Amino acid sequence: MEPIVEGKVKTVYQGVDPEQVLIHYHDKVTAGNGEKEDYPEGKGKINNEISCIIFKELEKAGIKTHFIQYAGPALMRCKKVDIIPIEVVVRNYADGSIVRQTTIPKYTKFNPPLIEFYLKDDDKNDPLLTEDRLHIMGYRQLHQYKQYAREVNVVVSGLFEKIGIALIDFKIEFGVTADGLVVVADEISPDGCRLLAEGDKSMDKDLFRKGEGDIITAYSSILKSLQEIVNI
Ligand code: TMP
Repeated sequence: MEPIVEGKVKTVYQGVDPEQVLIHYHDKVTAGNGEKEDYPEGKGKINNEISCIIFKELEKAGIKTHFIQYAGPALMRCKKVDIIPIEVVVRNYADGSIVRQTTIPKYTKFNPPLIEFYLKDDDKNDPLLTEDRLHIMGYRQLHQYKQYAREVNVVVSGLFEKIGIALIDFKIEFGVTADGLVVVADEISPDGCRLLAEGDKSMDKDLFRKGEGDIITAYSSILKSLQEIVNI
C-alpha cells in the first residue's frame, strides 16, 4: 500500500474505498518538534486502542469524528479527510507552555476551559495564533471549532474522571470530509493530552518529554482502566 501521509508517529494509507484511509500507529514517540525520539515496543497498538475507545465515546455522544472502526493491532479505519492545519488545544488546568510563557501558576483551574489555536507547522514551531490572525488567514469557523472542542472536552474529561484521572489539557485536530463536513480527526491519546493521576502522577507524554518515567507502563494502565469502564 502506498502511504498518503507519513507523520512523525503515524502513517496514513489509502483504503480500498476511495473515501476511507487506514491509519497505522507506530511504536515511536517524539518530543520537542522531533528533537527527541524513542521506539517503545507496543506503543502503536496501545495508542490505537485508546484512541479507538475515545472516538467511539465521542460518536456515542453525537460528536462527528473521522473514526470508522478498529482495523487490527495499531490500525484504525477512518474517513478520508483534509486535515485543517490548526491544532486546537483545550486547557482545563494550567500546565506546559501556558505556565512557561505567562505568569499563570501551574494547575490554575480554567472555568470555562481555555481554547487556543496553534498553527500546525513544525518549521514555524507551531506558534500560538490570535483570532485576528486566524481571521486574516481565512478561518471563518472558529466558533464552530470552539463549540466542538468544548463538547469533546466534556466527553473526554468525563471518561478520564471515571478512571480517576484529571484531564489537564489536550490537543485535537479537525478534518473536512469529501462531503464538506467538519469532523474531529487525527488521534486522541496520551501523546496529545496531559493526564494526572492521584498523587500528581503524570500518565502522558510528559514522562518521555521530561525523562521521568516509562510511557508504556502509564499508557497500558490507562488502556486497561478504560477497557474496564467501557465494557460495563
Ligand atoms: P502545550 O502546553 O505544550 O502548549 O501543550 C498543550 C497540550 O496540547 C498538551 O497536552 C500537548 C498537546 N499538544 C500536542 O499534542 N501537540 C501540539 O503540537 C501542541 C501545540 C500541543
